[in-house]
Amino acid sequence: MNKPIRNNSLLVASARTGLSKLQKSLEAKWFYDHAGSALFEKITELPEYYPTRTEVGILNDNIDAIVHLFPEPASLVELGSGASTKTRLLLSGVPKIDTYVPLDISGDFLMDTATTLASDYPSITVQPVVADFMEPLNFPDDIQIRPKVAFFPGSTLGNLDADAAVELMSRVRSWPNVKGFLLGVDLVKAVPRLIAAYDDATGVTASFNMNILHRLNREAGGTIDTSAFRHEARWNGRESRIEMHLVAKRATEFLIDGQEFSMRRNESIHTENSHKYTFKRIEKMADRSGWHVSKFFTDEGDDFAVVFLEPAGR
Ligand code: TRP
Repeated sequence: MNKPIRNNSLLVASARTGLSKLQKSLEAKWFYDHAGSALFEKITELPEYYPTRTEVGILNDNIDAIVHLFPEPASLVELGSGASTKTRLLLSGVPKIDTYVPLDISGDFLMDTATTLASDYPSITVQPVVADFMEPLNFPDDIQIRPKVAFFPGSTLGNLDADAAVELMSRVRSWPNVKGFLLGVDLVKAVPRLIAAYDDATGVTASFNMNILHRLNREAGGTIDTSAFRHEARWNGRESRIEMHLVAKRATEFLIDGQEFSMRRNESIHTENSHKYTFKRIEKMADRSGWHVSKFFTDEGDDFAVVFLEPAGR
């Protein structure tokens, strides 16, 4: 029997809004269905994609210093946990952690990894929460009062625009009994390396970006001819960010749940931003959101930073 066809109404509404704008856009959170989450894991292993292995190196090299920064006991709350690979470094290296709370929007992926982690770390309580970390969040009762450290690796903060990033940092600051925020951010560097990291030679990132169109076809009554599109990574110097676009190779028309959209040749759908930071910029964002930068760990090449923020004025 085939799966029943039921459109995801939230995806339909979001796509309609984004595709009706002058600069067409789609919300990046829709990248991460099961297929997309798996493709993203492949991105993190690409030779061109330096952020993951650089961040893992920084965490490894500084684990002793990181242990000192944690309260005891600590509940580690990870925002957008994906496959939780980097988390293992902390769960193994920081014995002060007795509870792990992964938050992710992709429910099935979250449950898979939570189950594996729970059996790999029998002494740690794993309490997964399916949530969009951009929305206000309710912790389970037994987690509420526990001392918390937020973990937000992968420069996912950089996928938010400046105001949303500060808003997220402020929201985390308001969590009950939050003691720290361990944050991974990508740093400004030569543009060709940045472009390559988001447009790899084997086309994995292109497939990841294109998956959002396939998803519209599968889940939003889309009739998109995906062969009419190509992936593009652009540097926007003014905003200090890489932008991901899906560019129409020719004029094309399609329906989303019955509504018609048309695109000119070379018109694009903007799907994602990845902001690149300087130390100064991070300091400013921390300032605006009630944190102060207590540690700034980097690799030798200053490619990436792992930052430990503490509540300001304490
Ligand atoms: N947080 C990752 C980053 O900005 C997300 C990411 C990596 C990404 N590659 C991508 C998002 C390609 C969209 C498309 O580096």
